[in-house]
Amino acid sequence: MDVQKIMVVGAGQMGSGIAQVCAMAGYDVFLHDLKQEYVDRGLATITKNVTRQVEKGRMTQEEKESILNRITPSIDLNNASNVDLVIEAVVENMEVKTSIFSQLDEIAPEHAILATNTSSLPITEIAAATKRPEKVIGMHFMNPVPVMKLVEIIRGLATADEVYQTIEDITHKLNKVPVEVNDFPGFVSNRILMPMINEAIYTLYEGVATKEAIDEVMKLGMNHPMGPLTLADFIGLDTCLYIMETLHEGFGDDKYRPCPLLRKYVKAGWLGRKTGRGFYTYE
Ligand code: CAA
Repeated sequence: MDVQKIMVVGAGQMGSGIAQVCAMAGYDVFLHDLKQEYVDRGLATITKNVTRQVEKGRMTQEEKESILNRITPSIDLNNASNVDLVIEAVVENMEVKTSIFSQLDEIAPEHAILATNTSSLPITEIAAATKRPEKVIGMHFMNPVPVMKLVEIIRGLATADEVYQTIEDITHKLNKVPVEVNDFPGFVSNRILMPMINEAIYTLYEGVATKEAIDEVMKLGMNHPMGPLTLADFIGLDTCLYIMETLHEGFGDDKYRPCPLLRKYVKAGWLGRKTGRGFYTYE
């Protein structure tokens, strides 16, 4: 299927990154959110990122301008009536996602694919909120989107082969590497990553070592670019907790129980970098 116009729903950290890489690959993109200020914040991040590419001599001023011109701000979901693909990147909440998908199902053209960037929720359940489950698919980008190469592509129970193929082709065009996985809680990435982060939090909780020591062990000993507690702050502790709860509930196995310290931090509003405080403090 020929995709030319894309709408990204959600202009936060992930959505703005997705819109950026789509525009860089030559697609026309609507960057949509509920409020103009959210869209403006997303556009500001994209502008900052592409300006840095110009400063580093990796992109011309003209290229930067045409990338930015390809992105149209949107606060009206009806703009989806005009696109071939929607990539949803809103909060990790099943009710919010199914509500958006049922609205998109009414608005988007019949041929349009509806993709979700969910990090752990079942694609099959999101697809069931639409009358086109064969055109619903998971397209899970990693943070920071402009840098990370992986896109996990997740088939729901009903996802059509042709839809999978289209999304795989688009992923290549975005200069990313697609990896196909099936629809299980946390897919592959978060089924493996989050229990490691949760275990790092238990290690801190039980007083095995300081936060700095835990991060240093994993950075220097395992060559991870960030220690697990720094990474948790980077991802957002609310997101980490949500994913652990999805794994716990989805598998019914206590090995996925979230660490009480993680719950406590989230209750305190210490959500990591985005709130200025998590395991570490940020300016
Ligand atoms: N947006 C755009 N570009 C960014 C960026 C951002 N938020 N953060 C860093 N970069 C770019 C920098 O500009 C720099 O680019 P150049 O080389 O072109 O100058 C490059 O990335 C490297 O950045 P830095 O030198 O500042 O720092 P670094 O070498 O420590 O790399 C990092 C930063 C890429 C974030 C690295 O620390 C890293 O890979 N961390 C692990 C990230 C990770 O694990 N992500 C997955 C999270 S899990 C997830 O996303 C899934 C989920 O569902 C929860």
